[in-house]
Amino acid sequence: MKEVLLKINNLKKYFDMGAGVTLKAVDDVSLHIFKGETFGIVGESGCGKSTLGRTIMGLYGVTEGEIVYNSLNIFEIKSKERFALHRKMQMIFQDPYASLNPRLTVAEIIAQPMEIHKLYSTKQAYLERVYHLLESVGLSREHAGRYPHEFSGGQRQRIGIARALALDPEFIIADEPISALDVSVQAQVVNLLKKLQIEQGLTYLFIAHDLSMVKQISNRIGVMYLGHLVEVTDSHRLYEEPLHPYTQALLSAIPIPDPDVEKRRERIILKGELPSPMNPPSGCVFRTRCQYAMEICTNVIPKWQEVEKDHFVKCHLHNEEIKGNQTSQMKVKMR
Ligand SMILES: Nc1ncnc2c1ncn2[C@@H]1O[C@H](COP(=O)(O)OP(=O)(O)OP(=O)(O)O)[C@@H](O)[C@H]1O
Ligand code: SF4
Ligand SMILES: [Mg+2]
Repeated sequence: MKEVLLKINNLKKYFDMGAGVTLKAVDDVSLHIFKGETFGIVGESGCGKSTLGRTIMGLYGVTEGEIVYNSLNIFEIKSKERFALHRKMQMIFQDPYASLNPRLTVAEIIAQPMEIHKLYSTKQAYLERVYHLLESVGLSREHAGRYPHEFSGGQRQRIGIARALALDPEFIIADEPISALDVSVQAQVVNLLKKLQIEQGLTYLFIAHDLSMVKQISNRIGVMYLGHLVEVTDSHRLYEEPLHPYTQALLSAIPIPDPDVEKRRERIILKGELPSPMNPPSGCVFRTRCQYAMEICTNVIPKWQEVEKDHFVKCHLHNEEIKGNQTSQMKVKMR
């Protein structure tokens, strides 16, 4: 039986934009992540991926909902327990250029979280740990005294990974850790993350906007659209049998290496613009761009449902009750 490490129930993160305007960055998201797995999150820019990650990390307050980590509801625990929990959850940030303080040496950057948690009593002990961490991410102890600007993008991301590993975490949120890197370096960083996962039994939430990249690293994938999680399943299943019309459109845009299959590939072009999260469509948020939109899609928010084992979808097309009703309505019309 797989053990659930993180469970999120009906999580909402709204930003108050002033003048009575609310931006719904994350809206009613529920998911669970198993211990030791990589859970990928994909979706277009602005769909709420980073906000979801930051909210789980406690960097943003929650508007509504529940986050349960290792059976502990993180909003109900005392501040001392929360401090201890922060050791176990770490984040690798989207931009390796902006996320490292340019005025600190690599050793200071990596040692900082350990100093906050008072892990060691001597400077030498911190330094030894920094050397060990640098080596485990493929850098060397000679790099410890240098500053971030002296490194390439890929090396900076390795420093960010070493910092995330400093407290021996169990769970790491990697927010597009490779998008800012050259293609040639991306695979190296992905391989490093995979190696560390095996060696240290890590669980990842891996955020990306590129479905082909996320497939390579993830056991399961969640697809986000305009603050909503619209589909979650095993990564192979998602590619073979995407159920949500948005997932189908995303997948249809990925080129297939086989030229014969590629020739027959049908691209689903999404009509219209991505709506604003400050004024999302009523009912299903995808309805303004969905080729299957029905009347009910305007009025009723689809339920988040497990339509087959471990396959969750938020779409009326896959709701048995509604499917039945639609069919009977059609029958009535035909009479
Ligand atoms: N601190 C904030 N205050 C107000 N609005 C915010 C804040 N952070 C994010 N947003 C808004 O929330 C929405 C989701 O943003 P988020 O950064 O989570 O998207 P994303 O999926 O990570 O996009 P990208 O792929 O570009 O990184 C966007 O409309 C964004 O403008
Ligand atoms: S609920 Fe309706 S509009 Fe939304 S994805 Fe399903 S069919 Fe399309
Ligand atoms: Mg982001």
